[in-house]
Amino acid sequence: MFLPFLVNLRKRAMKNHKDTKKGKKLWGGRFQQETDALVEEFTESVSYDRRLYRQDIRASIAHARMLGERGIIPKEDSETIIKGLEKILDDIEQGRFAWKKELEDVHMNIEQALTELVGPVGGRLHTARSRNDQVATDFRLYVRDETAALDELLQRLQQALVHQAEKYMGVIMPGFTHLQKAQPVLYSHHMLAYFEMFKRDRMRLADSLKRTNVSPLGSAALAGTSYPIDRLMTAKELGFEKLSANSMDAVADRDFALEFLFCLSVIMMHLSRLSEELILWMSSEFSFVELPDAYCTGSSIMPQKKNPDVPELVRGKTGRVYGSLISLLTTLKGLPLTYNRDLQEDKEQLFDATDTVKLSLAVMSGLVENMRPKEKRMQQDTLSGYLTATDLADYLVRKGLPFRQAHEVVGKAVARCIEMSKELGDLSMEELKSLHPLIDEDVKGVLDVEGSVRSRNCPGGTGHEAVRDAIEKAKLWLKEQRKDV
Ligand code: ARG
Repeated sequence: MFLPFLVNLRKRAMKNHKDTKKGKKLWGGRFQQETDALVEEFTESVSYDRRLYRQDIRASIAHARMLGERGIIPKEDSETIIKGLEKILDDIEQGRFAWKKELEDVHMNIEQALTELVGPVGGRLHTARSRNDQVATDFRLYVRDETAALDELLQRLQQALVHQAEKYMGVIMPGFTHLQKAQPVLYSHHMLAYFEMFKRDRMRLADSLKRTNVSPLGSAALAGTSYPIDRLMTAKELGFEKLSANSMDAVADRDFALEFLFCLSVIMMHLSRLSEELILWMSSEFSFVELPDAYCTGSSIMPQKKNPDVPELVRGKTGRVYGSLISLLTTLKGLPLTYNRDLQEDKEQLFDATDTVKLSLAVMSGLVENMRPKEKRMQQDTLSGYLTATDLADYLVRKGLPFRQAHEVVGKAVARCIEMSKELGDLSMEELKSLHPLIDEDVKGVLDVEGSVRSRNCPGGTGHEAVRDAIEKAKLWLKEQRKDV
C-alpha cells in the first residue's frame, strides 16, 4: 500500500467518493459496509458506457410502455416514467446531466436520475427487468446503430474507388504477384478489386446484423420473469426482428459483438492492404501515385519530405482492432452461464474498435477520392519486366503449340533478353523468328502492352470492355444498396 501511485489513486477515488456521495446504492439493501473507494473506481463502467445512454433510454421507454399496457404498473406511472426518461435524454444531450461514478453504470445513473425527477414512481421502471437483459439489449441496439453508420462509410469509400476507376479509365500499370511485375492491368481494375473487398464487408455486416437484431429484453436476470410481459411489443418498438429463444443464453451471449468485431477486423485488414499499396506507390522507387497534400504530412527535419502518414496510421491501427476481437474472445472463453461481470469488458474494446474503423474509413475515402495516379510513369513501367511474356506464350498456343512447350520457349527468350539487357519488344523480327519456327510477322502486336490488356475481356478480367462493364455493375450495385437502406 506504500506504492505512491496507489496512494494517489486512492486519494483521487476517496475525493470522488466524497464529492458524489449521496444516499445508498440502488442495490444496497443487504449491505452493511460502504463500497471501498478503490473498488468503486475499479468496478464502475459509467465513465465509458454512458455512451449507451440513447439506447438505454430507448429500451427503457419501450419497457415502461409495455409495463403500462399490460397493467403490470399503472398506466399513469408508465406515462410519468416515459416523460421523465425523455427529459433525462434531453438533459444528457444538452450536457446538463451529472454522471456519478458511485452509481456504477449508465443504467443505474439513468434510473436514479429518473427517481430523483419523478419520485418513487421511477422505482417501478425496473419491474420485470434486470440489468442483465437491459445491458444486452442496449449493446445490441448500439451495434445495430453502428452497423448502419459503418455501412454508409463503406459506401462512400466504394464511391471514391469507382470515381478513380472511371476518371482514370484506360491508364495501364504493371500488375504484380509476389511483388514482382507480372502482367499489365488497368489501374481501374486495380481500384475495383478494392471495391469488391468493401462490398463483401458490407454484405458481411448485413449478415451479422441478422443475428444482432434479436431482442433479449424480458430474459430478466437469467430465468425470465413471472410478470405477464409482452416481449413482442418491446421487440417491435425497438425494431428487433426476433426474440431470443433462451433467457440464459440471452444474458450471457456476446456472439453478436464478436461477429461485429470480426467484421471490423476484416475492414481494417482491407484498409491496411490498400494503405500498404499506397505507401509503396508513393515511394520514389514506384512513384505510381500522387497523394493529396491535405492527406500527407511533412518532416520536422527534412524539408523535402512528404510522408504518407494517413495510410501508415491506418495500417498501424489495424493491430488494435484485431486486438479487440482477441480480447473479447478471450474474455468469453472461460465464462460459466450466465451473466458474469467479466462481460462488462465487452464495451471499451468495441467502442475503441468502432471509433478507429469509422475514422479510418472516413479519412481513407477522402484520400482515395483525391489521389492521382501518375499515368506516364505507370505506363512507362509496363515497358520493362517482360510483362507480355505470357501473351507471347499464348500466341504460340494459338498457333498450335502445347502451353508447357510455349512456356519453355518464352522462358528461354526472356533469359536471352536478360543477357542482352533487352526487353521482348526490343527484339528484331529475325531475333523473334529465331525463337521458334511458329513465330511470324503477326507477333508484333502480341508484345504490345495495350494489346495485352485489351485482349483480357473474359468476365472479371482486366480488358477494357470487361472493366467498363464492371464499373457499370459497381454503380448499379451502389444504387441498389441505397434502396435497401
Ligand atoms: N455495467 C454492467 C455491464 O456492463 C451492467 C450489468 C450489470 N449486471 C450485474 N448483474 N451486475 O455488464
